[in-house]
This record gives sequence, C-alpha cells and structure tokens, in this order.
Amino acid sequence: MPEGIGDRYHKETKYYPEKMSGRGLDWSSKPSPYKEYPRSRRIELPQLEPSSAMSLDEALRKRTSVRDYSDEPLSLRDLSYLLWASTGIQRVEQGYEFRTAPSAGALYPIDTYVVANRVEGIAAGLYHYAIRAHALEELRLGDLRLESARAALGQSICYDAAAVFVWTAIFYRSKWKYEQRGYRYIYMDAGHIGENLYLSATGLGLGACAVGALFDDELNRLLGVDGEEESAIYMAAVGHPL
Ligand SMILES: Cc1cc2nc3c(=O)[nH]c(=O)nc-3n(C[C@H](O)[C@H](O)[C@H](O)COP(=O)(O)O)c2cc1C
Repeated sequence: MPEGIGDRYHKETKYYPEKMSGRGLDWSSKPSPYKEYPRSRRIELPQLEPSSAMSLDEALRKRTSVRDYSDEPLSLRDLSYLLWASTGIQRVEQGYEFRTAPSAGALYPIDTYVVANRVEGIAAGLYHYAIRAHALEELRLGDLRLESARAALGQSICYDAAAVFVWTAIFYRSKWKYEQRGYRYIYMDAGHIGENLYLSATGLGLGACAVGALFDDELNRLLGVDGEEESAIYMAAVGHPL
C-alpha cells in the first residue's frame, strides 16, 4: 500500500526525547471547554438516579453492539444518566471541573449533540448537551430520523434508535496545547466517551451501537457546525433492545 496522509500524520506527530523542548503555553488564550447556545431554550435534565444497579463487571460481560431496537421511548431520566455517564462533570478540584471520561490535558475537546427520535418528555429534534448546567439546549425540532440515517451512510440503526448521540470535536481546545498531535488525543477522547456510553447503556438495560461510518459534511450540516473549527467525528445509536 503506498504511503498516505495517515502514515505521514503518524510519523510527523511522533514525540522524540531529544525534541521535547517544551513550548510555553499562552494561558490567556486557553479555550473554554464549554460550548453554549445561549439563545436556545434550555431543558433541565432530571436528577441522576440510574434506573438499575448493574455491577461494572456485569456490564463489561454484557456489553455488545445492539442494532435492533423496540419502539419503546427512552425515558428522560435514562437520557440524563447516559449524558452524564458519557461526559458529565463528576468532580471539582481546585476550581477545575473534571468529567467521567479522561481527556488529554483535561482539555475536553468533545461536545455532545442528541438527535431525539423517541424520548419521553421532549419533542423530536436536535439538542446540544450543556455539560455544566446538565441541561439540553433545543436547537431544532422535527423528525430527523431520515437525515441522521442518511448522514450515517444510510445505516438504519440511526432511524430506528430512540436517540442518536453525535460527538463533535472542537479541535482548537486540544491544538492549543498539543498542536497537530492533538488530533491523536481528540479521537482517543471520543473513544473513551463512546465506551462510557456503551457501558452505561448496558447498565440501564439499553442497547447502543457506535457509528464511525458517516458522511462528515452531511452530519455537520444537520448539526449546524462548520466542519472546520468544529466537526462531527463519531456517533452512537441508543434504544431499548428488541
Ligand atoms: C470506531 C467504531 C466505529 C464503528 N462504526 C460502526 C458503524 O458505523 N456501524 C455499525 O453498525 N457498527 C459500528 N461499530 C461497532 C463495531 O462493529 C462493533 O463494536 C464490533 O463489531 C465488535 O462488536 P461488539 O461491539 O458487539 O463487541 C463501530 C465501532 C467502533 C469502535
């Protein structure tokens, strides 16, 4: 196979002991790890009370990619828990908020959007997870099942799911410190969040399936993000298993 951009990227972003000179960071330009939609209607999410108490060991043994969902809607309580478990704030240390998933440099480059197809208590549509407020920001109402399935290379799991999580990367949050190497960490961060979602969904008796096969620009249009500063990179379908 001829060398391609991925091979070159990997080579050119390697760390070497002799080249770790240590670039000073401009703390005044550190990007905020929180995106907010201040003009959107906010929907407070219910208190965090997981509806089941499955052990981590059991969830690890049971986790699998679930692609067939029943018509049963997702409760807002379960959606609330899934959002928190995948990327919510779980502690504050010296004034800094840390999340359920690890993140390189605690820079948190990943934002979460939810395409709600069948979620009790909220209308079908597109929402953004306001992490700090543990709330949803309503971005667009309507049946987006076809649009999200099309953006996922036509995969019907996004049409059938009760909700679809879409993760975007706001690249500068990581590039501010790690420059081009930051892309490696961004995708690792998204993977951690994805596994948190898988395990928490399993723990609630729900099914999830990661979706990496997506038409980037189509999905970015659905979200209303520019695809450069912020781009969709990963999705997951969630619902009650059939
Ligand atoms: C990065 C990534 C992307 C994936 N993309 C898709 C996808 O687009 N469609 C799909 O049906 N499954 C997708 N999967 C799920 C894998 O097919 C699945 O994890 C794998 O077959 C192992 O099965 P298991 O998750 O049940 O253990 C993806 C998984 C990962 C980690």
